[in-house]
Amino acid sequence: MAPYRGQHRGESGRGTDRRGTARRAILPRRTAYDVLAAVDAREAYANLLLPRLLTERGVTGRDAALATELTYGTLRGLGTYDAVLAACSDRPLDKLDPPVLRVLRLGTHQLLATRVGAHAAVATSVDLAKDVAGPRVSGYVNAVLRRVATRDLAVWLPLVAPDPVSDSDGYLAVRYSYPRWIVAAYRDALGDAAETELEPALAAGNDRPHVTLAAFPGGPSRDEIIPEGAEPTKWSPYGFTLEGGNPAALTATGTAAVQDEGSQLAALALAQTPLDGPDTRWLDMCAGPGGKARLLYGLAQEAGATLTAADLHEHRAALVRDALARAPEGNHLPLRPGATVVVADGRRPPWRDGAFYRVMLDVPCSGLGALRRRPDARWRKSESNLPALADLQRTLLRSALAACRPGGVVAYVTCSPVPAETRDVVAAVAGADPAIEILDAPAVLAAVPDVRSPDPRFAQLWPHRHGTDAIFVALLRRIA
Ligand SMILES: C[S@@+](CC[C@H](N)C(=O)[O-])C[C@H]1O[C@@H](n2cnc3c(N)ncnc32)[C@H](O)[C@@H]1O
Repeated sequence: MAPYRGQHRGESGRGTDRRGTARRAILPRRTAYDVLAAVDAREAYANLLLPRLLTERGVTGRDAALATELTYGTLRGLGTYDAVLAACSDRPLDKLDPPVLRVLRLGTHQLLATRVGAHAAVATSVDLAKDVAGPRVSGYVNAVLRRVATRDLAVWLPLVAPDPVSDSDGYLAVRYSYPRWIVAAYRDALGDAAETELEPALAAGNDRPHVTLAAFPGGPSRDEIIPEGAEPTKWSPYGFTLEGGNPAALTATGTAAVQDEGSQLAALALAQTPLDGPDTRWLDMCAGPGGKARLLYGLAQEAGATLTAADLHEHRAALVRDALARAPEGNHLPLRPGATVVVADGRRPPWRDGAFYRVMLDVPCSGLGALRRRPDARWRKSESNLPALADLQRTLLRSALAACRPGGVVAYVTCSPVPAETRDVVAAVAGADPAIEILDAPAVLAAVPDVRSPDPRFAQLWPHRHGTDAIFVALLRRIA
């Protein structure tokens, strides 16, 4: 994406005049706007594009913090903000030019969820609107945002959300800014617990998570590398959470890598499942970018096993290679002993049936369990994406089970709690197959409380219960 041209105008000698000041106020807003536009066009993921734009445009310090808050806050809240905007606009939102709607959403976030003063929020939004949509829209943007500014969010909500008694899911969708179908899918995933936990689960998806890292099994231990002020994770012996600060010092040397605790626990569950007889070859079938592969590789080494890590896409396999090559730095293992990385389609794999004892199958999924870190995911996916995903997930699970020796174990893992891609996939593939035993995954994760999903054979982690991503884990044993 090209650098923002206005930035150069603002910096060209009029440094302290009013226009220069206004230009500088716009830079973080324009950067947030450009990320929102790229997300709308499905060209980019916010968490990847934003850091790049901040660096390219030299946005640092408080301006970078503001751009980050505006980008993620607007993406998180836009379901709520659209309901407020619909009440404040005399034109239907779907008839607005997309750039105008984006500016209104950014402005509404500033007015209803930040400490930016109302005058500054409206004035900078009008300037931004002129920039991205031309001067004719400024009167309209000014009028709508002035109406938004007349109430705070708590007062707006009962005015714009459906009645919580007669339309509970509709109310929660507006209150917590989710598409209605995700509210219904979360309700289904929670089962009976939804009565008390649906609201906390939806609210937790809007939290801003701390950065969690994982030490490397076989390398310097967590205790040796944990920085001052960081918190050890509750259940993974490898994890720790940074309150703030930059993880780069640890990740650059390979002594630790950014990885949610739920993802660490999924890898540990596969490694810790009891297995009789030889246990020398492990497979990570959908390994890119390599978070679980890195942990599994260290655990496999400790168990005397090798790890083969595969991904369909060359660029994702390259990331796995990096993760496994970096891992041994700082410890006594030679470089990548017993690790193999291949570009392979798990549906038509190059390995022979029964080649592995433990198989990690972390399938492509909707990602709706990682909303804290990927706030745009809830708007990117629609319910209509699920059947094709579930079809792929079933095919990959059949293939993972075929790759497994009799007696061996497959971990079926998603970063989503949605039943159509978790419980239903496992039930369809393994539910009626006498050659497959569905193991008690919560028993393997016994140290983690409240991890049993409504189907008690499966483990389901939740942000509101465990402070992790909403990771699902099923463990399956091939009997024959
Ligand atoms: C959820 S991600 C895996 C995350 C990874 N396990 C980690 O912890 O970093 C799913 C991966 O599956 C890969 N994938 C998609 N279809 C595949 C297929 N048919 N065969 C193998 N890999 C596939 C995607 O490229 C993606 O990297």
